[in-house]
Amino acid sequence: MDKIRIIGGTPLKGTITIGGAKNAALALMPACLLTDETLTLCNLPHLVDITTMAHLLGQHGVAMSMNGAADNGGHTGRVLELTAGEITNTTAPYDLVRRMRASVLVLGPLLARCGRARVSLPGGCAIGTRPVDLHLKALEALGARIDLREGYIAAEVTGRLRGGQIIFPQVTVGGTENALMAAALAEGETVIVNAAREPEVSDLANCLVAMGADIAGIGTGTLRIRGVDRLHGAVYSVLPDRIETATYALAAAITRGNLELVGTRADLLESVIKLLTEAGARVTTTERGLRVDAETDAIVGVDIMTEPYPGFPTDMQAQWMALMATAAGASMITETIFENRFMHVPELARMGARVNVHGASAIVRGVPRLSGAPVMATDLRASVSLILAGLAAEGETVVNRVYHLDRGYERVEAKLAACGAVIERVKDTSPAE
Ligand code: UD1
Repeated sequence: MDKIRIIGGTPLKGTITIGGAKNAALALMPACLLTDETLTLCNLPHLVDITTMAHLLGQHGVAMSMNGAADNGGHTGRVLELTAGEITNTTAPYDLVRRMRASVLVLGPLLARCGRARVSLPGGCAIGTRPVDLHLKALEALGARIDLREGYIAAEVTGRLRGGQIIFPQVTVGGTENALMAAALAEGETVIVNAAREPEVSDLANCLVAMGADIAGIGTGTLRIRGVDRLHGAVYSVLPDRIETATYALAAAITRGNLELVGTRADLLESVIKLLTEAGARVTTTERGLRVDAETDAIVGVDIMTEPYPGFPTDMQAQWMALMATAAGASMITETIFENRFMHVPELARMGARVNVHGASAIVRGVPRLSGAPVMATDLRASVSLILAGLAAEGETVVNRVYHLDRGYERVEAKLAACGAVIERVKDTSPAE
């Protein structure tokens, strides 16, 4: 497995172009299953998770063609045409679903279009048990019969799904997305109460509207969907990745550098910008995106609590911890979304971070300087938090098992190196395990 080697201590300076949002793309791609016409998605990031979703859709019978690549000022956002003329297979196999939980997002559209779907249960993952019970309850509220057998979710409906009321007891991004796609083709009106308000959910809803769906309340906690008989093709551009944006914003802060992040939108990460400003960085919007300047600032400890959007994103918690490990003073980090999302703590501790975990909270006491060390990545956001720590640390850090990183960050080492980071990928040349 590849490793990333970093010699820390250089303040990052320059420009980084932000790509399309991975999590939006992973919901937009399965939306192609809802129509026999072509859905063209622009600004797709080039990531392993996107390739995994493409494989999954391919084996359902979706024809795909990469139709050139639109150049967005250094970021080559891909343009992908997806055509589900005929769905040849309604099973999402274990082998693909186990690699990526978002595979479960084919369930709603397959069921709505074909009246049946069989999707492997995703199982546990590094950051918690992450069940799909709320996805299933939502589809049941639309008239689906659901059976769990042999490790698979078997969902069926006679005739069409029927509109209904879905009340989520807890905010779920994927659950809302599956419900939205299913309801778009259901008969009658569906109301989703306590819907996720994440920008990626709104991106999906806007794309469905471009495909002919009737959805009101986009961006709010209550979505009203009037089902239509059929959806048509559309051309839709994926929104910028707010987590990639926020990660590089923190890279500027942790190295006490100055970066302009282009091709992105500050309004997608207001909670992070507010806290980063409180911590001492100067964040300004520019014509092309935003600038984070921490060159002369002392970063101070600021508490955060992860919450559904518009709160502080759980996908930024590990990176925030890395920043706080270098701040003056203490900070408390509380994780309310996933029960086991502190696996980066022992690795950061190997680099000299002072962190104590008590249940869902961690107290971080900043140190003047982290020190480089060999560390191991356990999930996507944990991996990038170790990269951030390595950029700030004294000496050499080697982040092992970086395949997680390639799932969610495009050309991370190239983007950082272009801004002065001393960072390289060490290719694994040992025989496959
Ligand atoms: C999505 C994002 C992920 C992000 C998360 C929270 C994608 C591909 N991934 O994941 O990066 O960290 O939102 O912002 O978009 N839950 C249940 N039952 C369910 C569904 C969820 O109990 O049926 C729980 C989960 O275990 C978790 C919480 O609800 O504790 C939120 O999960 P959810 O919003 O569904 O996350 P994902 O859609 O999987």
